[in-house]
Amino acid sequence: MLGNKNLVGVDIGSHSIKICLLRETAKGLHLQRFDFAPLPPEAMVDGAVMNFGAVVDRLKDLVQANKLGGHKAALSVSGHSVIIKKISLPEMTDEELASSIMWEAEQYIPFDIKEVHVDVQVLDPKAGQGQMDVLLVAAKKEVINDHVSIAMEAGLNPVIMDVDTFAVQNVFELNYGFPPAETVGLINIGASMINIDVVSNGILQFTRDISMGGNLLTEEIQRELGVGFEEAEHYKTGVGESVSSSAIFREVQRLAERVSHTLVTEIQRSIEFFKATSLSGDLSRVYLSGGSCQIPAIIKTLEQRLEVSVELINPFKNIVIDTKRFDIAMLQRLAPSAGVSVGLALRRRGDR
Ligand SMILES: Nc1ncnc2c1ncn2[C@@H]1O[C@H](COP(=O)(O)OP(=O)(O)OP(=O)(O)O)[C@@H](O)[C@H]1O
Ligand SMILES: [Mg+2]
Repeated sequence: MLGNKNLVGVDIGSHSIKICLLRETAKGLHLQRFDFAPLPPEAMVDGAVMNFGAVVDRLKDLVQANKLGGHKAALSVSGHSVIIKKISLPEMTDEELASSIMWEAEQYIPFDIKEVHVDVQVLDPKAGQGQMDVLLVAAKKEVINDHVSIAMEAGLNPVIMDVDTFAVQNVFELNYGFPPAETVGLINIGASMINIDVVSNGILQFTRDISMGGNLLTEEIQRELGVGFEEAEHYKTGVGESVSSSAIFREVQRLAERVSHTLVTEIQRSIEFFKATSLSGDLSRVYLSGGSCQIPAIIKTLEQRLEVSVELINPFKNIVIDTKRFDIAMLQRLAPSAGVSVGLALRRRGDR
């Protein structure tokens, strides 16, 4: 399988599927494959699979076009069916943690414990006063099983199930590195989901998924201009070149500002909650990813409201790209959407 230890990262978002494969050599990480396929509206809703056939077909096309049949894959889940919580437990050994976690987890999870897969990661083994900080992750089995089935039917061999927000952290660490003694926000704004992480000294302090995203702007354009989904997407992303009428351009701008206020208000609410419940101090900077971070009004509104500088993440920054094999303009255009798939592609065989 391409003689490669890395897994193919598969990000099944509600707007599109993204796949990425990297190869590690002495000279660094090289891009082997990157591709994407749009999904029909409503195929994925809030991280759950609604149109199984459509998702399998698109992923199968990607697998075949990129000659990835049988390759081991890392996938991710997000949304309401995933619960991530930082909890404090009395200090204990890994064995004690493994045997007590289901019981401990029950009180933090709003679902029947039998319906979820639970995993833990020790964040700080000595958080003080005999306590340790642990990250608890629970995901509904139903959603995980759907993702596994899709990957298998599309011809892949799924071996790792990750979470969108962890993939964003990994891609950030690869390309930028967490600054010591600083608190940064990582915000991934997709079509129907916003993943927010706050990381202090490289340790996750706060994470939350909000069920909102750039679709809100597509819907507003559809309603206000009386057009269909495809046309609205076109107006949204093709502003300047293909949208000839300046009246339409101005209207799209106006709607983008309105939607940006709605999305940023939700983000701000989460950040305020983090500030009120943590001692980590103010954010020094916010790093944005996700296709919808290309709405210029979002960046401006975030900078104004959070009073921090906002920077876009380039997931390919520290990855070697052969310009003869890849269309650089295409990669640049898709870079905002690529973060999760590149983060997943950092996973290796044998990882947990
Ligand atoms: N140039 C652009 N300007 C504004 N919005 C854009 C642009 N390019 C893409 N988008 C929007 O980005 C969104 C897709 O982003 P992304 O690929 O991160 O989403 P996803 O991962 O498929 O969805 P999910 O929210 O379920 O994670 C769509 O709403 C799309 O319209
Ligand atoms: Mg996404």
